[in-house]
Amino acid sequence: METKIVKISEAESEGESLREAADILKRGGLVAFPTETVYGLGGDALRSDAAHRIYEAKGRPSDNPLIVHIADMVSVSSLAKEIPEQARMAMEAFWPGPLTVILNKTEEVPRETTGGLDTVAIRMPDNPVTLSLIRQSGIFLAGPSANTSGRPSPTTAEHVKQDLNGKVDMILDHGAAGIGIESTIVDFTGEMPMILRPGYITKTMLEQVIGPVCMDAALDSRKITKEPPKAPGMKYKHYAPKADLTIVEGTDEDAVFETIHALTLEQQENGRKVGVIATTESVNRYSQGIVKVIGTREKDTTIAAGLYQVLREFDEIDVDVIYSEAFTDGALGQAIMNRLLKAAGYRVIRV
Ligand code: TXA
Ligand code: MG
Repeated sequence: METKIVKISEAESEGESLREAADILKRGGLVAFPTETVYGLGGDALRSDAAHRIYEAKGRPSDNPLIVHIADMVSVSSLAKEIPEQARMAMEAFWPGPLTVILNKTEEVPRETTGGLDTVAIRMPDNPVTLSLIRQSGIFLAGPSANTSGRPSPTTAEHVKQDLNGKVDMILDHGAAGIGIESTIVDFTGEMPMILRPGYITKTMLEQVIGPVCMDAALDSRKITKEPPKAPGMKYKHYAPKADLTIVEGTDEDAVFETIHALTLEQQENGRKVGVIATTESVNRYSQGIVKVIGTREKDTTIAAGLYQVLREFDEIDVDVIYSEAFTDGALGQAIMNRLLKAAGYRVIRV
């Protein structure tokens, strides 16, 4: 299959390319689309053949359910059996935006889309091109992140091309995704709303709007617990670069820098190519290895936005090992460390 890649601006979201993309979706084809979090790999959520195509293109296990992207509130009623009051409040407060809600599904949603579950994940993305695409095609847009299963999520159309060229009909290029990590997932089917995946919308932000919210216990732990995470996709080693990544964590920053420096030297002596993930503040502290800046500690949004980009850059230059500082501070600390720990296969050195 030949993949058509089109640059599309907000002004063009009524134009010819978007009509073509909408037609592809209506025929059951696949279109990679931009969102504010990461790029998605889209198909018609109500067609099981489209869901199969998505799983195939991603190389993803088909028990891992897809998120259904919508462009207006009324669509929720077609997809979900009932809408609890707290879910409604959260959707009104944070949509369009990086929040995915889990609700009980209607008969209309095929089990291929929900990975066999009776629940469905729904989100209204904050991207004008994609909202327009959903409206023009008249479909609900099933879309996982547009990466090959197991690779870092794509934050640019170029990343999507690296993974899915020849496997999807079209890629809509709307520049870099602003947030850079996937949406917060909240399950509203239990007694209390539960965060299944941390993201840009934090527990505190949710609680200010809907009252008490709990966390999937599997997230609290730094290890994969006996209890599997409730979002099926969270159990896989995800977001992983090809190189072995290790996180070096500690309250004494000099000790962190010195440890990373010593480990880098040691690996280089063994003939290995080493990458170091640093910040604007720490970059000058490293004199060895290939040092990349993920963002600034002054603003955790820059670190979230840089994370997958940096992991992919290290893949491109084929480093053997990567050492990273930890990024636990700030409102996004939990969401960032959730991804970084997975990318590291939970390898952490505490100093
Ligand atoms: O920001 C995002 O959410 C991006 C953009 C493209 O919207 N999408 C995304 O999709 O991250 P994906 O497929 O990579 O991750 C979806 C996660 C998986 O961990 C999956 O297991 C979980 O959502 N999920 C989907 N439906 C679910 C359900 N019914 N119950 C529990 N977890 C669900
Ligand atoms: Mg994903």
